[in-house]
Amino acid sequence: MPERPVRPIRSFVNREGRLSKHLENAWNDMHKEYVSNGLKPLNALFDVQAADNTKQRLVVEIGSGQGNQVVHAAKLEPDTNFVAIEVYKTGVAHTLYLMNTQQVTNVRIIQADAYELFANNYFSAQEPAIDELWTFFPDPWPKKKHKKRRLINENFKALVLQSLVVGGIWRIATDWEDYANSILKIPDITASERFSNRLVTNFEQKAKDANRMVYDFVVQNNL
Ligand SMILES: C[S@@+](CC[C@H](N)C(=O)[O-])C[C@H]1O[C@@H](n2cnc3c(N)ncnc32)[C@H](O)[C@@H]1O
Repeated sequence: MPERPVRPIRSFVNREGRLSKHLENAWNDMHKEYVSNGLKPLNALFDVQAADNTKQRLVVEIGSGQGNQVVHAAKLEPDTNFVAIEVYKTGVAHTLYLMNTQQVTNVRIIQADAYELFANNYFSAQEPAIDELWTFFPDPWPKKKHKKRRLINENFKALVLQSLVVGGIWRIATDWEDYANSILKIPDITASERFSNRLVTNFEQKAKDANRMVYDFVVQNNL
């Protein structure tokens, strides 16, 4: 009997709904230019070369949700390239909408599973490419039977480190105490001050309203 392919455990669930009119317009007008599915290589995402040919800083956000953080940061740093990775189409469309209304052009969105991208060396095909990686409020998967769906674990950290430039940094934030404890057990990841450039998104606001602490972490590629 042929072997059944092993279905990977995913850190997300499919939840597609209808796009509202303004999101549908943003999607239709912009997705060809700004959204890819992970098949277009990293070096083809940004067509703008720095005038002096030095490498532009690359900041990547995993699970960018509605896009508030990445678009806010991209507006503050117009000379940095930003890549937002998000599986959820409504979130991708909302990010495009924000880019349009805030006239931001230095963000590219990859609509794909971040785990697959890192496992297939998307950000390290030639050499490690990421200067800064963000994972803010990853899905907490609070039930015991679902913990294996959490994105952040030792295996994923090893994949991430391969993609960070020397001195590159991965910033993580979660409001889920049990997830925070498991992250702290991963070698090299340490607790950190709140990242000052992190916006208060709905997830952090909900945590604050429920009196839940928010935990920030960093790990740096020192090799
Ligand atoms: C709890 S939300 C947080 C969104 C955003 N970071 C914020 O703070 O508002 C987590 C997001 O991560 C996305 N996500 C989960 N696993 C992912 C994966 N493997 N690849 C890409 N996106 C993922 C989900 O679709 C969701 O939008």
